[in-house]
Amino acid sequence: MSQADGKRLSGEKAAEYVQPGTIVGVGTGSTVAFFIDALARRKHEIEGAVSSSEQSTRLLKQHGIPVLDLNATGPLDLYVDGADECDPHNRLIKGGGGALTREKVIAEASRQFVCIIDASKQVDVLGKFPLPIEVIPMARSLVGRAIAERGGQPVWREGTVTDNGNWILDVFNWRIADPVALERDLNQIPGVVTIGLFAARPADTVIVDGTLRANR
Ligand code: A5P
Repeated sequence: MSQADGKRLSGEKAAEYVQPGTIVGVGTGSTVAFFIDALARRKHEIEGAVSSSEQSTRLLKQHGIPVLDLNATGPLDLYVDGADECDPHNRLIKGGGGALTREKVIAEASRQFVCIIDASKQVDVLGKFPLPIEVIPMARSLVGRAIAERGGQPVWREGTVTDNGNWILDVFNWRIADPVALERDLNQIPGVVTIGLFAARPADTVIVDGTLRANR
């Protein structure tokens, strides 16, 4: 199966998790774009969506799906989002598209996080995909040095400004043996906004190429 087909099937499958009358948390990326297409076909059944990026907001609005403010909605039943890598324990690397901060906020606010991927995103150990870290601009060098001290190779994603006005460092060559501990550690560095590791709050459900993956 092609990667595009895997993404489309997963996006379509996730729409089955949407309950009538609810507000849906919506992630960012090419897989989520397929989910938004499927959600649009059921848009009259839902109250609206909370969006994790300006990119997804545009898509949702193009489809006529109301975009709501998380401060007004309170906790959500469901969040659907893609990932760059997913380990056997549903822990993820996210942020390849730069939307990690709002994605992590919505994941935390949601009772069920359904992650939609194609098979190429499955790994045994996280870290082959460079780990994105959103930093406030003045802290770029400081955070970069702190990461280098910990064995990572940070590269500034030059030219990218996040929806929150911040910058991104991509950390190469990190085999992430303990994602929960690393997420906790990196979160302590001043100037770090969000680590693209979703380990303390992993996905609850993973759909791969349109098929529900058994939880370990
Ligand atoms: C966006 O910042 C990311 O977290 C995406 O969820 C991730 O990069 C997956 O994107 P694709 O669905 O485009 O592969």
